[in-house]
Amino acid sequence: MSYITQFASLLCAGTMMLTSSLEAVAPQRDITGSLFLVSRAYRVSEDYVPPLVQADVSGSLRSMRPEAAAALEDMFAACKEEAGVTLVTVSGYRSYSKQKNIYNNKLKSVGSEEKADEYVARPGASEHQLGMAMDVGQRNSSAGLTSSFANTRGGEWIAENCWRFGFILRYQEGWEDITGYNYEPWHVRYVGPEHAKAMYEADVPMETYMEELREQVMIDLLALK
Ligand code: DAL
Ligand code: ZN
Repeated sequence: MSYITQFASLLCAGTMMLTSSLEAVAPQRDITGSLFLVSRAYRVSEDYVPPLVQADVSGSLRSMRPEAAAALEDMFAACKEEAGVTLVTVSGYRSYSKQKNIYNNKLKSVGSEEKADEYVARPGASEHQLGMAMDVGQRNSSAGLTSSFANTRGGEWIAENCWRFGFILRYQEGWEDITGYNYEPWHVRYVGPEHAKAMYEADVPMETYMEELREQVMIDLLALK
């Protein structure tokens, strides 16, 4: 075998190793994976519909992926027990066309795409289409889907405790330049308990966490760990 052929096959093997290691740690090709990142940059196709169940809690639009719904039920029960607050669902799974309507309504009310983009994801770019996100409110509270939800007892409890159940507060204050969206103290995203704990402790957005995971894979590979 010539040196060039040897070099090419080594390069090919290295690339395959890197790709499969990256996929193992941050499976962006596995839409059912709890770390699947959806954002302006990573979108879901129009026809994607996850497997769905209705979370057995109070509120509207309670559909989520089964593992996220079960975690949401545990989280709502713990909030009731620990803080004495009844949380309610406001909006879980949303289809591509539902997201399109929400985006267009926002566009009409704020008058520019630039402004609408701060609040609502474009169709295909919403975590709600994954079935892994829920907008949460507090029963009998007028603070639903406003920044003042953060100051309710339920909102405070969610911010401190959602990681215990595998959720992250996805759009936090100060992260707008990274996530692309305004502060949403009501929007939780299921990523599973291990990653939720790590993101809570590191106090970083999911985008940063994923980048760090990928960097770590590179470092481990280069060090041949
Ligand atoms: N409000 C969030 C960003 C969404 O529309 O998915
Ligand atoms: Zn949301």
